[in-house]
Amino acid sequence: MKKVLVAYFSAAGTTRQMAEFIAEGARFSGQQVSTRNIEDIRDASELAGYDGYIFGSPTYSLDLPGPMKTFLLLAEKARLGGKLGGAFGSYTHDVGYQHDAHAPAIIMETLQSSAKMIPFELGALTLNEELLKTKEGLKACQDYGRVFGETLGE
Ligand SMILES: Cc1cc2nc3c(=O)[nH]c(=O)nc-3n(C[C@H](O)[C@H](O)[C@H](O)COP(=O)(O)O)c2cc1C
Repeated sequence: MKKVLVAYFSAAGTTRQMAEFIAEGARFSGQQVSTRNIEDIRDASELAGYDGYIFGSPTYSLDLPGPMKTFLLLAEKARLGGKLGGAFGSYTHDVGYQHDAHAPAIIMETLQSSAKMIPFELGALTLNEELLKTKEGLKACQDYGRVFGETLGE
C-alpha cells in the first residue's frame, strides 16, 4: 500500500470538496490517503514520507493565491524529487481563459520544473465550480484520484 498526500488551499470550500472526492478515488485504488489544508502545514518535514502528492488550489486573478505560493516554496524544501505529483483546483470564469493559465497548471509546472517531481500522466484537473455540483464533476475527481493511486502501484 502506498501513501498519498492530498494538500489543498480553499477559501470558500470548493477546492476542499474536490480534495475530498480525489482522496476518495485514491482510496478506491487501495492506497492510504491523507487530506490536509495547507494552512495547517507549518514545516517541510510534515511533507515527508509519502509516495505521491496531489496539491490543490483555486485560481486567483489567473495566478496562485498567496498561501499556495508560500506552500510550494515549502514543498521545494521537502525534496520531493522523483515522487509522483498531481494538481487540481476550481475556478469560475470560462470566457477567454485557457486551462494552462489556471492555478492547477501552474502547480504542475512548478512541481515538475522546480521540485523535479514526476508529473502525473493525466496532468492537472481544472474544474469549473458549476461542474462540481454535478455527478460528472464528482466522477472526474474520483477518477483522477483512482488513476493516480493506480499509477503508484502496489
Ligand atoms: C480574489 C479572487 C480572484 C479570483 N480570480 C479568478 C480568476 O482569475 N479566474 C477564475 O476563473 N476564477 C477566479 N476566482 C474564482 C475562484 O477561483 C473560484 O470561486 C474557486 O472555485 C474558489 O475556490 P474555493 O471555494 O476552494 O476557495 C477568483 C476568486 C477570488 C476570491
